[in-house]
Amino acid sequence: DAGALLRNSLLALSRNTTVRDVIERAPVSRDVVRRFVPGESPRDAVTASAELVGSGRLVTIDFLGEDTLEQSQADATREAYLVLLRELGAAGLSDGGRVEVSLKLSALGQALPRDGERICLDNARRICAAAQEAGTTVTLDMEDHTTTDATLATLGELRQDFPWVGAVLQAYLRRTEADCRDLATSGSRVRLCKGAYREPESVAFQETVEVDTSYVRCARILLEGQGYPMLATHDPQIIEVVQSVVEGAGRAPDSYEWQMLYGIRPLEQQRIADAGQQLRVYLPYGQEWYGYLMRRMAERPANTMFFLRALATK
Ligand code: FDA
Repeated sequence: DAGALLRNSLLALSRNTTVRDVIERAPVSRDVVRRFVPGESPRDAVTASAELVGSGRLVTIDFLGEDTLEQSQADATREAYLVLLRELGAAGLSDGGRVEVSLKLSALGQALPRDGERICLDNARRICAAAQEAGTTVTLDMEDHTTTDATLATLGELRQDFPWVGAVLQAYLRRTEADCRDLATSGSRVRLCKGAYREPESVAFQETVEVDTSYVRCARILLEGQGYPMLATHDPQIIEVVQSVVEGAGRAPDSYEWQMLYGIRPLEQQRIADAGQQLRVYLPYGQEWYGYLMRRMAERPANTMFFLRALATK
């Protein structure tokens, strides 16, 4: 079908270095990339974060890693986070959690064939210790459904020493309502998103309306619970419905936050922040931006429209 054709073409392109070079050199397309990925160095990430914080927004930074096939790559990713956290601390941006970091456990070694989970946990622990020293927090991104149990197990381990570590739950998974109940406890931080991977019907809702109603049910569980909900979506209808749940639950403005991706609906981000609610921007940086953009589009054909629409709107 057309969706599979588009997906396969995008996946082929995501590995094509000639295309990457052309995109990188063309000034117009570089501007497009910069709209979603503000730079390649930790300095770029710090500069972009300072601007966002200056406008009253909060930030979570993701260092873009490729599929980690060797321990040396996992260790390099860990070092990149340690450097970043030092620079954020030196710039006075991390204290109070204004700028935190998001981690993909696969980039820290989770899927390595030998001792992957232990290597990943060790790396994540060292990043958490550095975040604590910088006065900020860490959130574990959620990847495809085959990793959900392992990621939640690592979350549990990390929270024994660092109770403020957060995780992402994906509303498209059938299991997520139950996971929300488990995690809607005091001190727990949960980012709720729709979910970005292509998942089988056995584990995930396929229809938009099913995913949307699951999102609202999950948001209600989190908002009526004892934890700190982080509501990640750009969807105006969901924002409107969840806003009324926020009010019904009597949530104080500092007891939850909205989250959106860097470059997507920036005017709406500013509107929410100006209205006195907390809004955190997810900011990816690093050299691996090409794979990031192409794979986000390939994972779900809807993501292609998602980025194209962002270019056409403010
Ligand atoms: P969706 O893409 O379904 O769009 C719904 C509606 O929103 C559209 O019909 C339109 O009205 C509006 N809209 C969307 N994009 C727009 C645009 N560019 N301009 C104008 N209007 C637009 N996923 C995952 O699997 N694991 C993870 O760890 C994370 N982490 C994460 C962090 C943060 C902070 C965010 C915001 C997202 C994630 N995601 C994620 C991605 C997430 O799962 C999802 O793929 C995207 O957020 C897209 O879903 P939306 O809820 O934004 O709505």
